[in-house]
Formats: sequence, C-alpha cells, structure tokens
Amino acid sequence: MNEAPPRVAPRRVLSVVIATSLVAAWTSGACDVVTINTPTLPIYYNTTDRTNGGASFLTSTSCKTCHADIAQQYALHAHAFTLNRVQGGPPTFPAAADQAGVPNPPDGYAWSDISYLLGGYAKRALFIDNGGFILTTGLTGKATQWNLDTPPNGTTPGFADFAPTAAAPLPYDFDRFRYETTGPAPQDPSNPLFQENRPGFIGTWAEAGVQCEACHGPGSNHIPNPSARDIFVDSPGAMTCKQCHSTPFDGPADEITGVDGFINPRSQWQELAASGGHAAFACTFCHDPHRGTSYDRAGAIRNECTVCHTEENMALHEGKVFVRPTDGYTETLTCESCHMPYAVKSGSSASTAAVGPLARVGDTRSHIFRITTEPLDYTGFFTPDGTRVVKDAEGRAALTVDFVCLRCHNDVSLPTLSFSVERAAEIAIGVHQEFE
Ligand code: HEC
Ligand code: HEC
Ligand code: HEC
Ligand code: HEC
Ligand code: HEC
Ligand code: HEC
Ligand code: HEC
Repeated sequence: MNEAPPRVAPRRVLSVVIATSLVAAWTSGACDVVTINTPTLPIYYNTTDRTNGGASFLTSTSCKTCHADIAQQYALHAHAFTLNRVQGGPPTFPAAADQAGVPNPPDGYAWSDISYLLGGYAKRALFIDNGGFILTTGLTGKATQWNLDTPPNGTTPGFADFAPTAAAPLPYDFDRFRYETTGPAPQDPSNPLFQENRPGFIGTWAEAGVQCEACHGPGSNHIPNPSARDIFVDSPGAMTCKQCHSTPFDGPADEITGVDGFINPRSQWQELAASGGHAAFACTFCHDPHRGTSYDRAGAIRNECTVCHTEENMALHEGKVFVRPTDGYTETLTCESCHMPYAVKSGSSASTAAVGPLARVGDTRSHIFRITTEPLDYTGFFTPDGTRVVKDAEGRAALTVDFVCLRCHNDVSLPTLSFSVERAAEIAIGVHQEFE
C-alpha cells in the first residue's frame, strides 16, 4: 500500500486577497500579484434590508426606464425566462437565444389549454394548464416535457416523459414557484389567495420570472428618490444566489444531493462549498449577476479560470478539438471541459448510443471543480443509496473520471482513445505536469 503512486500531483498553495466587495488581487507563493476583473461599483447604502423598508413590488418594466443598459444585458439571461405567460400561442424569445422555444404543447393539448410555460429557454420546458397544474405523464398518459436542443449530450428537440408516476394533479405551489418568480408569497391560511385565481397556484407572486426585484427587493421606495441609494444590493452577491441555487431552497451547504446518478439541478451553492479552493468564493467572483451563461457566455463570466490560475497548462489538451463522429458536436478543449463537466441533470442526459455505456453526461455543468484520480465511477461518487455526493474529512467532493474524461474518451466518440475508468484515472494523475 505505501508503494502506491501519489494520487494527487504536488501543487503550489496560493491565496486570494479579498478586498472591500470582491476579490481584487491574489498572490501566489512566489508573491506575484494578479489583479482580477471587478466591476466599477457604486457605494451601496443598503446591503442589509431586503424589504427596502417595507416597499412594494413594481415589476421590471419600471426599472427598465432608468436602467436600460442593465435591462438590455438581462434580457438574454435565463432568469428572465424561467416562467413565461402563454397567450394563445408559443411564447417568443430573443433571436440570439437560438436553442430556445417550444413548437407546440403536448399531444392532445392546444396552446389555449396552457397558461404558462415553465422554462423553454435552455434545456427543457414543462407546461402548466389553465388550472395552474403542471402536466405530468402520470396523469395525462402523454410525454409532457419538451427537451430543447442540448448539443453537449446529443439530445435533439422532442417530447419526453415527465413524472410518469405522478398520478395526482401537480400544483405549481410556493415550494416550486419561489425558484422561478419575483416577490413570491406563500398562502396565508387566514386569507387563502391563489395567483390569478387558478387553484394550482397556491400562493401569489408579483412578477413571473426571476426579475430585478428578485434580488434587489421591492422598488417602490427607490423610484421617488433614487439618489438615496436605499435599494437592497447583496454585496458581494453571495446570499442572494444561495436561495435559489440550493437544493433544498436556501438550504444548508452540507450535502450535495442527487438522483439517478446525477447531481440535482440548482445545487451550485452546495457544490461550491465542497470545491476546496473555491469554497469561500461568492458566485459573483466569477459571474456577472446580470448576464446569462447560455446565450451571453463571454459577458457572463467576469473572471476566466486563467485570470487567477495564470500558470496552469491545458493538461495534455492544448489546442485539441473534440468532434463527436455520431452527430458532429464540436468542442474546443478549455479548462471547463474537464473541471466543469455535465454531472448535473436538469432535463436530459446522454444515451448509451451517444457516449457508450460508461460515460455520464447530464445537461448542466458542475461547480465542484475538483477531479479525483482514484479509479472510481459514479457509484463511488455518490453514497451507496445514491442520494448524496461523498465528501472527504475536509468536506470536499471530487468528480470521478466517468463524468470527466469518459465524456469524450469512450468507444463511440474517440474509438482509438477509448479508456476504462481505471485507465483514465491512471492517466489523470499528474495530467498537468510536463511530461519529458
Ligand atoms: C427614475 C429612475 C429610476 C428607476 C425607475 C429605477 N432606478 Fe435604480 N437607480 C436610479 C439612479 C439615478 C441610481 C443611482 C443613484 C446614485 O448614484 O445616486 C439608481 C441606483 C440603483 C441601484 C444601486 C443602488 C446603490 O446603493 O448604489 C440599484 C440596485 C437599482 N437602482 C435598482 C433598481 C431597480 C431594481 C429598479 C426597479 C424596481 C430601479 N432601480 C428603478 C434611478 C432609477
Ligand atoms: C440574480 C440577482 C440579480 C438580479 C435579478 C438583478 N440584479 Fe442588479 N445586482 C445584483 C448584484 C449581486 C449586484 C452587485 C454588483 C455586482 O456584483 O455586479 C447588482 C448591482 C446592481 C446595480 C448597481 C451596480 C451596477 O452594475 O450599476 C444596479 C443599478 C442594478 N443591479 C440594477 C438591476 C436591474 C435594473 C435589474 C433588472 C433588469 C437587476 N439589477 C437584476 C444582483 C441582481
Ligand atoms: C429567485 C431565484 C433565483 C435567484 C435569486 C438566482 N437565481 Fe440563477 N437561476 C434561477 C433559475 C430558476 C434558473 C434557471 C435554470 C435552473 O432552473 O437551473 C437560473 C439560472 C441561472 C444561470 C444560467 C443562466 C443562463 O443564461 O442559462 C446562472 C448563470 C445563474 N442562474 C446565476 C445566478 C447568480 C450568480 C445569482 C446571484 C447573483 C442567481 N443566479 C440568483 C433562479 C435564481
Ligand atoms: C477569482 C480567482 C479564481 C478563479 C476565477 C478561478 N479560480 Fe480556481 N482557485 C482559485 C484559488 C484561490 C484556489 C485555491 C488555491 C489553492 O488551492 O492553492 C483555486 C483552486 C482551484 C482548484 C483546486 C481545488 C482544490 O482544493 O483541490 C481547481 C481544480 C481550480 N481552482 C480550478 C479552476 C477552474 C477550472 C476555474 C475556471 C472555471 C477556476 N479555478 C477559476 C482562484 C480562482
Ligand atoms: C484534460 C482534462 C483537464 C484540463 C483540460 C484541465 N485540467 Fe486541471 N486537472 C485535471 C485533473 C485530472 C486534475 C487532478 C490531477 C491530480 O490530482 O493529479 C487537475 C488538477 C487541477 C488543479 C489542482 C492541481 C494543481 O495543479 O494545482 C488546478 C488548479 C487545475 N487543474 C486548473 C486547471 C486550469 C486553470 C485549466 C485550464 C487552463 C485546467 N486545469 C485544464 C484535468 C484537466
Ligand atoms: C470559480 C468560478 C465560478 C464560481 C465561483 C461560480 N461559477 Fe457558475 N459558472 C462558472 C463558469 C465558468 C460557468 C460557465 C461555463 C461554460 O458554460 O462555459 C458557470 C456556469 C454556471 C451556471 C450554468 C450552468 C449550465 O451548465 O447551464 C449556473 C446556473 C451557475 N454557474 C451558477 C453559479 C452559482 C449560483 C454560483 C455560486 C453558488 C456560481 N455559479 C459560482 C464559474 C463559476
Ligand atoms: C471534451 C473532450 C475531452 C475530455 C473531457 C478529455 N479529453 Fe483527452 N482528448 C480529447 C481529444 C479530442 C484528444 C485528441 C485526440 C486525437 O488527437 O485524435 C484527446 C487526447 C488525449 C490523450 C492523448 C494526448 C496526446 O498528446 O496524444 C490523452 C492521454 C487524453 N486525451 C487523456 C484524457 C484524460 C485522462 C482526460 C480526463 C482527465 C481527458 N483526456 C479528457 C478530448 C477530451
């Protein structure tokens, strides 16, 4: 046992200097200082009161009149389209969102039977009927989830089953809609309100979608006197994201949950907490809070990996381009190709025909970042009952190589460089070191 090769390559220990609101610079062991990209921020007066002094919600239409620049960026963010009103026909999306949209409702339904489309902008869509209930396969006997074009896992647009065992009507209630609406309120038993009087909408919201006031709080006290700077800004932007990008909602950071061999969607908060080196980061160290990753990737990420990791190489993959022979999917290798693989499933995952029997490819990137070089597959990544991601004594998780390398190195996609889990793990050891 003590002759075993080191499983983790030796690396330099680096530290980040956290300034007023964001990381301003970080220093390496050699003491070189790297300045990272931070926005020019106003000085906030309200970073504590989410209610803005008991204000009321006005909707983003009013914010747009003065903050046109931010509103224009935000108009491409998936947040703006998490819940879309249907008015007799398919909802429309910005032209730049080239994978967005749903052609028709499930078999046997017309658009006039649908009140809202849940999603439909990236990855998948569900349909809500006029009573405010989500259409399930269990109740309707039809395929009721629309999968959007998802090139990384080879899914092409089409209907799929959703909740095949849910035989009872599925209300779109507070526990669901608080992820996708602005100003959500649970139902008060003494005055039971239903949004738009639809019985499935148990509770109310102020605006559909995750709009300006979802993060900044209600704006009615700001507009009469904007220079008072008394509208809530979560600086440095950690806790606002935590609410919705947590499973369960606003949950503790201790467990990353999963099902069917994939991490649950909206677990980024829990994943980041288990990332070791990035565990104390705010989401906004890397993300612009107003810009979306699906259709505005270049603007959405403030600091690319190499802004901080200035000396890291591409781990044998410099200049490599992956082309999947079965469907022509093309990816130029980046740091994210290995460190942010699709270990999360929101709507779809790759079929065996697309990636072979061993690879695990969901539709959403992981935020664990760490990769293990132990010869383990997803059964070792999750606890034996499959409901939690395994963590070490320091609370860190690590992605197994079936999510990382085998996504490309499988017998369908790269037949001459197809690896077993054991072989991939062996090569992965020290993959960043120069081989001489
Ligand atoms: C009538 C114009 C107007 C409208 C409408 C408006 N704002 Fe503002 N907002 C401003 C101005 C002006 C500032 C900058 C204040 C300053 O720099 O003195 C500002 C600042 C802000 C800030 C930064 C606060 C800070 O402490 O620096 C946020 C956040 C913000 N607005 C959000 C919103 C939201 C959300 C809405 C919609 C509910 C909205 N605004 C509607 C004019 C407006
Ligand atoms: C997902 C949460 C979120 C949403 C939704 C959001 N913001 Fe922000 N906003 C932030 C955070 C966090 C900051 C702090 C500064 C930063 O990290 O960029 C901020 C900063 C601001 C500022 C001050 C700094 C600046 O960039 O000028 C304004 C003004 C603002 N937001 C307006 C808006 C408007 C208008 C909308 C809707 C179109 C909106 N925000 C939607 C999270 C959000
Ligand atoms: C009110 C709930 C809510 C809040 C608050 C929120 N998000 Fe989201 N976010 C969502 C939902 C819902 C989606 C749609 C995807 C999904 O369901 O996983 C999403 C999607 C995203 C995406 C994908 C965007 C795209 O274009 O595909 C990013 C990036 C993101 N959120 C970052 C953030 C960050 C950073 C913050 C904090 C500044 C934040 N979110 C706060 C609910 C929220
Ligand atoms: C804002 C600066 C910053 C950005 C951006 C950043 N990192 Fe890091 N990263 C760090 C710091 C600081 C550490 C901890 C340093 C250490 O472990 O010595 C770290 C650690 C890591 C680790 C080791 C984690 C562990 O504990 O085992 C990996 C892997 C990593 N980063 C990958 C990435 C990738 C991939 C990206 C881009 C998607 C990225 N980083 C973006 C600053 C950053
Ligand atoms: C081909 C897949 C692959 C690519 C591409 C890749 N990495 Fe890695 N990286 C790994 C693996 C595997 C490990 C774990 C190696 C080990 O522990 O021996 C690792 C470890 C790391 C670590 C922690 C160990 C260390 O060397 O400090 C950091 C930080 C890191 N990578 C950053 C990056 C950055 C930044 C990029 C892009 C410039 C990148 N990686 C590209 C596979 C990759
Ligand atoms: C170290 C940098 C870093 C941090 C910290 C970070 N992200 Fe990300 N995130 C990224 C990058 C880079 C991408 C886009 C990767 C790509 O598609 O190229 C991304 C993508 C996303 C996506 C879209 C994933 C998909 O596949 O659709 C969501 C949602 C998201 N981040 C939410 C969050 C939230 C919430 C937090 C805080 C809990 C957070 N991120 C923290 C770097 C980071
Ligand atoms: C996004 C797809 C992708 C991922 C992820 C990926 N690779 Fe690769 N890899 C490639 C491609 C493409 C090539 C070049 C194939 C060729 O030249 O025909 C390659 C080449 C290689 C080679 C041969 C290098 C050389 O110089 O000839 C090795 C070894 C390798 N990869 C190992 C790994 C390991 C180990 C991992 C996981 C840590 C990994 N790869 C992750 C796509 C990927």
